[in-house]
Amino acid sequence: MSKIWDKVYNSDRAFFGEEPSNFALLCFNHMKTNNVQRILELGAGHGRDSIFFASNGFEVEALDYSNVAIGLLDKIAKGRRLPISPRLFDVNGPLPFQDNYFDAVYSHMLFNMRFSFEELHSILSEIRRVLKPRGLNFFSVRNQNDNSYGKGTEVDNGIYDINGFQIRFFTEEEIRNLAEAEYFEILWIQEEYEDPVTIYLVSARNHK
Ligand SMILES: C[S@@+](CC[C@H](N)C(=O)[O-])C[C@H]1O[C@@H](n2cnc3c(N)ncnc32)[C@H](O)[C@@H]1O
Repeated sequence: MSKIWDKVYNSDRAFFGEEPSNFALLCFNHMKTNNVQRILELGAGHGRDSIFFASNGFEVEALDYSNVAIGLLDKIAKGRRLPISPRLFDVNGPLPFQDNYFDAVYSHMLFNMRFSFEELHSILSEIRRVLKPRGLNFFSVRNQNDNSYGKGTEVDNGIYDINGFQIRFFTEEEIRNLAEAEYFEILWIQEEYEDPVTIYLVSARNHK
Protein backbone atom coordinates (compact mmCIF):
# COMPACT_ATOMS: atom_id res chain seq x y z
CA MET A 1 0.00 0.00 0.00
CA SER A 2 2.92 2.31 0.57
CA LYS A 3 5.83 1.71 -1.75
CA ILE A 4 8.21 4.26 -0.26
CA TRP A 5 7.60 3.27 3.36
CA ASP A 6 7.69 -0.45 2.56
CA LYS A 7 11.05 0.14 0.91
CA VAL A 8 12.32 2.10 3.93
CA TYR A 9 11.30 -0.56 6.45
CA ASN A 10 12.53 -3.38 4.20
CA SER A 11 15.97 -1.83 4.09
CA ASP A 12 16.01 -0.99 7.82
CA ARG A 13 13.63 -2.79 10.16
CA ALA A 14 14.34 -0.23 12.90
CA PHE A 15 14.51 2.87 10.72
CA PHE A 16 13.37 5.16 13.56
CA GLY A 17 15.41 3.29 16.17
CA GLU A 18 14.55 0.75 18.86
CA GLU A 19 14.06 3.34 21.59
CA PRO A 20 10.83 5.31 22.09
CA SER A 21 10.77 8.90 20.85
CA ASN A 22 11.07 11.79 23.30
CA PHE A 23 7.54 12.71 22.32
CA ALA A 24 6.28 9.31 23.48
CA LEU A 25 8.09 9.75 26.82
CA LEU A 26 6.55 13.18 27.26
CA CYS A 27 3.04 11.98 26.36
CA PHE A 28 3.38 8.94 28.61
CA ASN A 29 3.63 11.20 31.69
CA HIS A 30 0.53 13.15 30.62
CA MET A 31 -1.32 9.92 29.87
CA LYS A 32 -0.51 8.52 33.32
CA THR A 33 -1.80 11.61 35.12
CA ASN A 34 -4.98 11.44 33.02
CA ASN A 35 -5.62 7.73 33.79
CA VAL A 36 -5.25 6.67 30.17
CA GLN A 37 -5.58 2.92 29.54
CA ARG A 38 -6.50 2.37 25.91
CA ILE A 39 -4.54 4.13 23.12
CA LEU A 40 -4.74 4.32 19.36
CA GLU A 41 -1.47 5.03 17.50
CA LEU A 42 -1.87 6.25 13.91
CA GLY A 43 1.06 5.89 11.48
CA ALA A 44 2.86 3.71 14.01
CA GLY A 45 5.63 2.60 11.64
CA HIS A 46 7.66 -0.28 13.05
CA GLY A 47 6.21 0.58 16.43
CA ARG A 48 8.97 2.05 18.62
CA ASP A 49 6.34 4.09 20.51
CA SER A 50 3.52 1.52 20.52
CA ILE A 51 5.97 -1.02 21.99
CA PHE A 52 6.93 1.45 24.71
CA PHE A 53 3.30 2.26 25.59
CA ALA A 54 2.31 -1.42 25.66
CA SER A 55 5.39 -2.36 27.72
CA ASN A 56 4.26 0.20 30.27
CA GLY A 57 0.78 -1.10 30.82
CA PHE A 58 -1.37 0.47 28.09
CA GLU A 59 -3.56 -1.45 25.67
CA VAL A 60 -2.59 -0.30 22.14
CA GLU A 61 -4.22 -0.42 18.71
CA ALA A 62 -1.61 0.50 16.07
CA LEU A 63 -2.42 1.43 12.46
CA ASP A 64 -0.11 2.02 9.50
CA TYR A 65 -0.49 1.64 5.76
CA SER A 66 2.91 -0.01 5.30
CA ASN A 67 2.53 -3.75 5.07
CA VAL A 68 6.17 -4.22 6.05
CA ALA A 69 5.89 -1.99 9.15
CA ILE A 70 2.77 -3.80 10.36
CA GLY A 71 4.44 -7.18 9.79
CA LEU A 72 7.47 -6.14 11.84
CA LEU A 73 5.36 -4.79 14.69
CA ASP A 74 3.09 -7.82 14.72
CA LYS A 75 6.08 -10.12 15.07
CA ILE A 76 7.50 -8.15 18.01
CA ALA A 77 4.10 -7.83 19.71
CA LYS A 78 3.47 -11.58 19.49
CA GLY A 79 7.07 -12.50 20.41
CA ARG A 80 6.98 -10.35 23.55
CA ARG A 81 3.29 -11.01 24.26
CA LEU A 82 2.53 -7.30 24.32
CA PRO A 83 -1.04 -5.94 24.30
CA ILE A 84 -0.71 -4.37 20.82
CA SER A 85 -3.06 -5.02 17.90
CA PRO A 86 -1.28 -3.87 14.73
CA ARG A 87 -3.48 -3.37 11.67
CA LEU A 88 -2.79 -2.46 8.04
CA PHE A 89 -4.92 0.62 7.49
CA ASP A 90 -4.94 3.86 5.48
CA VAL A 91 -6.05 6.63 7.85
CA ASN A 92 -7.83 8.38 4.99
CA GLY A 93 -10.71 5.96 5.60
CA PRO A 94 -13.15 5.96 8.54
CA LEU A 95 -11.34 4.54 11.57
CA PRO A 96 -12.31 0.90 12.22
CA PHE A 97 -13.44 1.48 15.83
CA GLN A 98 -16.64 2.31 17.63
CA ASP A 99 -17.42 5.78 19.02
CA ASN A 100 -15.96 6.84 22.40
CA TYR A 101 -13.51 3.93 22.51
CA PHE A 102 -10.05 5.40 23.27
CA ASP A 103 -8.68 7.42 26.16
CA ALA A 104 -5.96 8.84 23.90
CA VAL A 105 -4.93 8.95 20.25
CA TYR A 106 -1.26 9.43 19.44
CA SER A 107 0.55 10.09 16.16
CA HIS A 108 4.17 11.08 15.64
CA MET A 109 5.03 12.76 12.32
CA LEU A 110 1.97 11.38 10.51
CA PHE A 111 -0.12 14.49 9.76
CA ASN A 112 2.83 16.05 7.88
CA MET A 113 2.65 13.28 5.27
CA ARG A 114 0.80 13.82 1.98
CA PHE A 115 -2.64 14.88 3.25
CA SER A 116 -4.70 17.83 1.99
CA PHE A 117 -6.24 20.08 4.65
CA GLU A 118 -9.61 18.57 3.75
CA GLU A 119 -8.25 15.11 4.52
CA LEU A 120 -6.68 16.33 7.75
CA HIS A 121 -10.05 17.73 8.85
CA SER A 122 -11.68 14.34 8.17
CA ILE A 123 -8.93 12.49 10.05
CA LEU A 124 -9.32 14.78 13.08
CA SER A 125 -13.06 14.40 12.97
CA GLU A 126 -12.63 10.61 13.03
CA ILE A 127 -10.16 10.87 15.91
CA ARG A 128 -12.70 12.88 17.83
CA ARG A 129 -15.41 10.30 17.13
CA VAL A 130 -13.36 7.38 18.52
CA LEU A 131 -12.08 9.36 21.51
CA LYS A 132 -13.98 9.36 24.76
CA PRO A 133 -15.38 12.69 25.92
CA ARG A 134 -12.43 14.85 27.01
CA GLY A 135 -10.05 12.25 25.55
CA LEU A 136 -6.55 13.33 24.55
CA ASN A 137 -5.13 13.74 21.06
CA PHE A 138 -1.31 13.92 21.00
CA PHE A 139 0.35 14.58 17.65
CA SER A 140 3.56 15.93 16.20
CA VAL A 141 4.20 17.57 12.83
CA ARG A 142 7.22 18.94 11.03
CA ASN A 143 7.35 22.73 11.00
CA GLN A 144 8.84 25.59 9.02
CA ASN A 145 12.01 25.75 11.15
CA ASP A 146 12.94 22.30 9.78
CA ASN A 147 16.25 22.14 7.87
CA SER A 148 14.42 20.68 4.85
CA TYR A 149 11.81 23.45 4.67
CA GLY A 150 12.04 25.30 1.35
CA LYS A 151 13.85 22.41 -0.34
CA GLY A 152 12.46 19.87 -2.82
CA THR A 153 9.67 20.38 -5.34
CA GLU A 154 6.10 21.36 -4.51
CA VAL A 155 3.90 18.41 -5.58
CA ASP A 156 0.64 19.60 -4.10
CA ASN A 157 -0.60 22.67 -2.26
CA GLY A 158 2.04 23.14 0.52
CA ILE A 159 3.44 19.61 0.10
CA TYR A 160 7.06 19.13 -0.99
CA ASP A 161 8.78 16.08 -2.41
CA ILE A 162 12.13 15.71 -0.68
CA ASN A 163 14.04 12.62 -1.82
CA GLY A 164 10.80 10.76 -2.49
CA PHE A 165 9.13 11.68 0.85
CA GLN A 166 6.17 14.01 0.52
CA ILE A 167 5.98 16.41 3.40
CA ARG A 168 4.00 19.40 4.70
CA PHE A 169 5.74 21.88 7.01
CA PHE A 170 3.19 23.41 9.38
CA THR A 171 2.91 26.81 10.97
CA GLU A 172 1.58 27.03 14.51
CA GLU A 173 -1.42 28.94 13.19
CA GLU A 174 -2.31 26.11 10.79
CA ILE A 175 -2.27 23.64 13.67
CA ARG A 176 -4.46 25.84 15.85
CA ASN A 177 -6.97 26.46 13.03
CA LEU A 178 -7.15 22.78 12.16
CA ALA A 179 -7.56 21.54 15.72
CA GLU A 180 -9.99 24.21 16.83
CA ALA A 181 -12.21 23.76 13.76
CA GLU A 182 -12.53 20.08 14.74
CA TYR A 183 -13.47 20.92 18.36
CA PHE A 184 -10.13 20.18 19.98
CA GLU A 185 -8.89 22.45 22.74
CA ILE A 186 -5.11 22.85 22.40
CA LEU A 187 -3.46 22.22 25.78
CA TRP A 188 0.12 22.88 24.70
CA ILE A 189 2.32 23.22 21.64
CA GLN A 190 6.08 23.00 21.95
CA GLU A 191 8.92 22.80 19.50
CA GLU A 192 11.54 20.06 19.47
CA TYR A 193 14.50 19.13 17.33
CA GLU A 194 14.50 15.36 16.83
CA ASP A 195 17.58 14.84 14.65
CA PRO A 196 17.23 15.60 11.71
CA VAL A 197 13.74 17.13 11.91
CA THR A 198 12.16 20.09 13.70
CA ILE A 199 8.66 19.43 14.91
CA TYR A 200 5.79 20.83 16.90
CA LEU A 201 4.58 18.54 19.68
CA VAL A 202 0.90 19.07 20.33
CA SER A 203 -1.52 17.99 23.03
CA ALA A 204 -5.23 18.64 22.52
CA ARG A 205 -8.38 17.66 24.35
CA ASN A 206 -11.64 16.54 22.84
CA HIS A 207 -14.31 19.14 23.72
CA LYS A 208 -17.14 16.59 23.52
C1 LIG B 1 7.47 9.68 9.51
S1 LIG B 1 6.90 8.02 9.68
C2 LIG B 1 6.70 7.94 11.44
C3 LIG B 1 6.57 6.54 12.00
C4 LIG B 1 6.36 6.45 13.50
N1 LIG B 1 5.26 7.29 13.94
C5 LIG B 1 7.60 6.81 14.26
O1 LIG B 1 7.75 7.99 14.62
O2 LIG B 1 8.44 5.93 14.46
C6 LIG B 1 5.23 8.14 9.09
C7 LIG B 1 4.47 6.84 9.08
O3 LIG B 1 3.14 7.13 8.65
C8 LIG B 1 2.70 6.09 7.79
N2 LIG B 1 1.64 6.67 6.93
C9 LIG B 1 1.76 7.67 6.02
N3 LIG B 1 0.58 7.92 5.43
C10 LIG B 1 -0.31 7.05 5.98
C11 LIG B 1 -1.70 6.81 5.76
N4 LIG B 1 -2.41 7.51 4.85
N5 LIG B 1 -2.31 5.86 6.52
C12 LIG B 1 -1.59 5.14 7.43
N6 LIG B 1 -0.27 5.30 7.67
C13 LIG B 1 0.35 6.26 6.95
C14 LIG B 1 3.94 5.64 7.04
O4 LIG B 1 3.82 4.33 6.55
C15 LIG B 1 5.01 5.78 8.14
O5 LIG B 1 5.17 4.57 8.85
